[in-house]
Amino acid sequence: MISFAPQQDGRLNPTVSSSITLSGLAPASKATQPVVNTNPNKKKILFVTSELADLVKTGGLGDVSAALPRAMRHLHDVRVLIPGYRQVLQSDNPIHIIGELGGHAALPPCKIGRMDLADGLVIYVLICPELYEREGTPYGANNGRDWPDNHIRFARLGLAAADIAANLAQIYWQPDLVHAHDWPAGLTPAYMHWRGQRTPTLFTIHNLAYQGVFSRACCPELGIPHHALQQDGMEFYGKLSFLKAGMAYSSHITTVSATYAQEITTPEFGCGLEGFLSSKTQQGLLSGIPNGIDESWEASTDPHLIAPYAPGDWSGKAINSDHIRELFELKKSSGPLFAVVSRLVYQKGLDLTEAVADFIVASGGQICIIGRGEPEEEQAMRDLALRFPGQVSARIGFNETDARRMFAGSDFLLMPSRYEPCGLSQMYAQRFGSLPVARNTGGLADTIEDGLTGFLFNESTPESYIQALRRAFKVFAYPDLFNAMRCRAMSAPFNWCKAVEPYAELYEQLVAQSLSRPANT
Ligand code: ADP
Ligand code: GLC
Repeated sequence: MISFAPQQDGRLNPTVSSSITLSGLAPASKATQPVVNTNPNKKKILFVTSELADLVKTGGLGDVSAALPRAMRHLHDVRVLIPGYRQVLQSDNPIHIIGELGGHAALPPCKIGRMDLADGLVIYVLICPELYEREGTPYGANNGRDWPDNHIRFARLGLAAADIAANLAQIYWQPDLVHAHDWPAGLTPAYMHWRGQRTPTLFTIHNLAYQGVFSRACCPELGIPHHALQQDGMEFYGKLSFLKAGMAYSSHITTVSATYAQEITTPEFGCGLEGFLSSKTQQGLLSGIPNGIDESWEASTDPHLIAPYAPGDWSGKAINSDHIRELFELKKSSGPLFAVVSRLVYQKGLDLTEAVADFIVASGGQICIIGRGEPEEEQAMRDLALRFPGQVSARIGFNETDARRMFAGSDFLLMPSRYEPCGLSQMYAQRFGSLPVARNTGGLADTIEDGLTGFLFNESTPESYIQALRRAFKVFAYPDLFNAMRCRAMSAPFNWCKAVEPYAELYEQLVAQSLSRPANT
């Protein structure tokens, strides 16, 4: 629902795009009041992201974008800028138009809407129906193909953030720092740098493998200056990389676990950017801050679950297991239930799970799979289920309720990722007493205690994976040991508090640095 907001002089904004259905003129005085910052130490932070779990998500970026601003609320005034996708415009939350921005090069003009979520989180919605109001995911059509104009769509997002930071949108709120996430927001620090804006920027890499690489012929359309096409700019093997732009032009870079921060400086994980990232590390400009999980991950209170439970009281967990076996049409069994809750993409090592499924089923285990992603991976999961009727079952698609019930109903979570910047699913699973069997990489290595809260394996091979699975089956056969591990996993300290402090410190440091810099640097 979108409505006009009176401008400061009381007139109605007259130029809302005619392709947006207007549902009436709502009095939006709250939305247009200048925000008074009562705590002088609170910084104003603009989060720029392409996903927000409340409205639209394809993976963990959406979860983090929804959780971190809320977890930081007591320290800073964090607001989120997100494109006005169809899912955003059609949500139940009213949107008040509060500002507009002109076009630039081939980037069309747009409007800024304000949406106040029920708990007070403020979302700025970038309204440009010709770019965002489509049936599909944030990145492509439902058939998995990327939108051909993604360079324009996400350059528009970056430029809108830069415009807000420069107070061009006149929304009566100007950030002290801009925090941009992943390649879709990568041009934010770049536009700000090219225009000489002094507001500091933080860029967080959630996944180095998604880089937003486009032909250099797009430069004029995006208003990218010629000098940006250099090795220390956004040039990447003769093309334009939005991800590299975010890294090259931000004041500081973070990624989402300490181990991944180190891994991406090596050829195995660096995706061709390891040299660039090593030099950032040496300059103290790249660090790892692990993600957390929010308070809704509590088995004794989560309303999505069929039955609540707590560590030591496993009868509720068993009710969730029965439900999952029924939902997935698995045979009744007293063996362990393994869950896969995943985007179905190469990163997640699903081919390895295919290769070890024989072992799992022959050892008395069952597997339930939920997820969507690349068409070939989806087909491979359907085929796997057909090979083991009643023992392996796959649901292609995703919904939060079933995902939560699977974490609750399973005994183990399978996460054989080839690389994993942080990973949230292994933390969700532990909190719900499902022990991860996971590859020893990135955030998985940092959040799973091998043999205590889960099982890690080193190599991306079925043999290495099976060694970890053997240990899992062995522990499952000793209920006291298995339950002790579950209790330890359920009490692992994954809350956001741990991440909030380092982010808050970094924000303060970057703002202080930018204020102490002479004006012409
Ligand atoms: P990634 O972000 O790489 O997918 P994470 O473990 O960080 O991995 O985050 C996974 C989050 O995304 C969890 O909340 C999980 O339930 C959810 N999720 C998993 N698969 C899908 C999917 N196909 N579509 C939407 N969300 C998904
Ligand atoms: C990415 C990564 C995942 C991480 C998530 C949130 O999607 O693949 O490991 O947990 O972002 O940071």
